[in-house]
Amino acid sequence: MFITFEGADGCGKTTQIKLIDEYLRSKGYKTLLTREPGSKGLGEKIREILLNYDGEVSSRCESFLFLADRAQHVDCIIKPALQEGTIVLCDRHTDSTVAYQGYGRGLDIEEIKKLNALATGGLKPDLTIVFDVDIETSQARVGKNKDRMESAGIEFFKKVREGFLEIAKEEPQRVKVINSSDTIENIHKKVVELIGK
Ligand code: TYD
Repeated sequence: MFITFEGADGCGKTTQIKLIDEYLRSKGYKTLLTREPGSKGLGEKIREILLNYDGEVSSRCESFLFLADRAQHVDCIIKPALQEGTIVLCDRHTDSTVAYQGYGRGLDIEEIKKLNALATGGLKPDLTIVFDVDIETSQARVGKNKDRMESAGIEFFKKVREGFLEIAKEEPQRVKVINSSDTIENIHKKVVELIGK
């Protein structure tokens, strides 16, 4: 199974992925916990540019960097793990590009979807969980030490959040939304329930 975890910055998904990873391992499943951008190797270098480069970055260039990282990640890490029967848990994937570069930056959403398909070679998650939380809560969680993406401003994050909700509406079979303002324990229970199904 290939499961992706999505949501705006500060939605709490990283905590939840670690919990579900521990849970699945305790049940005897083999898992791989990975992330985009930048799982390891070349991806780490692309991540460094995406999050820390302080000069001008065009939205199209930004998209291609996320997509380049994704192609490398799918080919060298995700696909080999899936072939071995490992459950892959991925912190952000294709829907982040649709939400951030499409809805957030305003690039053409259909184009982004096509580019995503190119980057993944057609691989699609079996399940995607979107952690949804109001902007005030997520911004407070992000705090003051912001990276390049997190510095994009409140209007940007409103669009990103709307983007994720729109994606969930378009693909209700694959994409499930969890209200992430609940307690860590309650959210974890919901994640277990969704994956169990
Ligand atoms: P990261 O520190 O991994 O954030 P988080 O813990 O919130 O996942 O930084 C990744 C940033 O990159 C985050 O702001 C979302 C953004 N991003 C995109 O804009 N497009 C993408 O395709 C991906 C994968 C991430």
